[in-house]
Amino acid sequence: MTDAPRPETELQVPDDLSGITAEQYRASMRHYPAGVTVVTLTSPQGPVGFTATSFASLSLDPPLVSFNIAHTSSSLSAMLDAESLVIHFLGEHQQHLAHRFSRTTEERFTDRALWTTLDTGEPILHGTPIWLRATVHQQIPIGDHTFVVGLVTRVHDNTDEKPAAAPLLYYNGRYYRPTALSD
Ligand SMILES: Cc1cc2nc3c(=O)[nH]c(=O)nc-3n(C[C@H](O)[C@H](O)[C@H](O)COP(=O)(O)O)c2cc1C
Repeated sequence: MTDAPRPETELQVPDDLSGITAEQYRASMRHYPAGVTVVTLTSPQGPVGFTATSFASLSLDPPLVSFNIAHTSSSLSAMLDAESLVIHFLGEHQQHLAHRFSRTTEERFTDRALWTTLDTGEPILHGTPIWLRATVHQQIPIGDHTFVVGLVTRVHDNTDEKPAAAPLLYYNGRYYRPTALSD
């Protein structure tokens, strides 16, 4: 009697990434949901900010977070020079900010009613349920992005407001609000 072939030995999966197309990669990533953040910082040229879904919680002790910035981003040089930044976890009512901070760079901070600055200089977007201030701990170029690690020095949490704002989500090219499956 011969053993049935084990499926994993039949699959010819290359261990490098050269076997996939950019479209296969993009299609799989589109299917991965993410919370929506806007990263802001200050620079000698003025305020800088961009929408980012690459945010991740990295470490509790010390409290580290991360995100990736594209090497094509107009915010890259300011990011590489920055000593600190603010990461805004957008609420479902802030889809307009996700749009604003992913489009025309020059118009992102033109509406003064939308933001203020911390005494440390970073722009703060009004009405954000949670924002974190972080000092830049490490910046590592990887592939076509730079991986930024921040040490969280301040947490601003408005989620005890009633009703608490639900987070804004991004999935398959569209924005969503979360829906609980059960209590
Ligand atoms: C939902 C969403 C998520 C994004 N996430 C990131 C990200 O994690 N990192 C990044 O560098 N750009 C991200 N971008 C792109 C930037 O927000 C921005 O559109 C891009 O840098 C182009 O801006 P620029 O013309 O100022 O360079 C995202 C855009 C959208 C709409």
